[in-house]
Amino acid sequence: MATAIIGGTGIGNLLQDAGCEPVQAATQFGVLQAFRRKDGIFVIARHGRGHRVPPHKVPYKTMAAGLIALGVDKCLSSGAVGSLDPSLKPGELAAVSDFIDVSGRNVTMFEQGVHHTDFTPGVSAAVLQKLQSAGAGRAVVYACTNGPRYETPAEIRMLSALGADVVGMTVATEAVVMREMGIEYGSLAIVTNYAAGISDTELSHEEVVAEVKKAASRAVRVLLDSAR
Ligand code: HPA
Repeated sequence: MATAIIGGTGIGNLLQDAGCEPVQAATQFGVLQAFRRKDGIFVIARHGRGHRVPPHKVPYKTMAAGLIALGVDKCLSSGAVGSLDPSLKPGELAAVSDFIDVSGRNVTMFEQGVHHTDFTPGVSAAVLQKLQSAGAGRAVVYACTNGPRYETPAEIRMLSALGADVVGMTVATEAVVMREMGIEYGSLAIVTNYAAGISDTELSHEEVVAEVKKAASRAVRVLLDSAR
């Protein structure tokens, strides 16, 4: 069986190596565009080339079904996040250990029939352990919003009261479709900013991209070490 890495904001294209080959997997939901690295790891840029696909339009079902078609049974990802905890600073990495889905997306691979999928634990314990051994940092609870807008300070206070440490726009949806397809899934959070109201400055996508750039080589090393 094979492993895949989904690169989030600022990471997608950095996972390709010199011998990378494009591969496609046709699914009932659409065609998944991926690359196969020389070491056999499949890589996907979550937001497409040049970051053109926003979080609420990511083809989550195509990714999950496409990875199954490629023979993948383990999937890691990276995701830029805002921190709700003043002690978790921009530039730090963290390993997602659980999630709270407030995206309202309701994406499921099971549109037909009745399928209730267990989510204890919220992400794969094996992948979480690999990420932490590779230096991913502390375990965090990820709150997933729909985006593409950032949150309000009141929303961040609510998410913090609910037990979230970080906030992003993709990981919960990905975790759901992967688990529903039987793929072991875990995610590396790249802290790019303090969430709304934690910091008193305005948030911008440019700031997020600039922070990911600084952490990118560390993040890529942790992802590749965890994938092997
Ligand atoms: N909120 C949601 N998504 C994010 C953030 C944030 O503050 N930073 C990076 N992705």
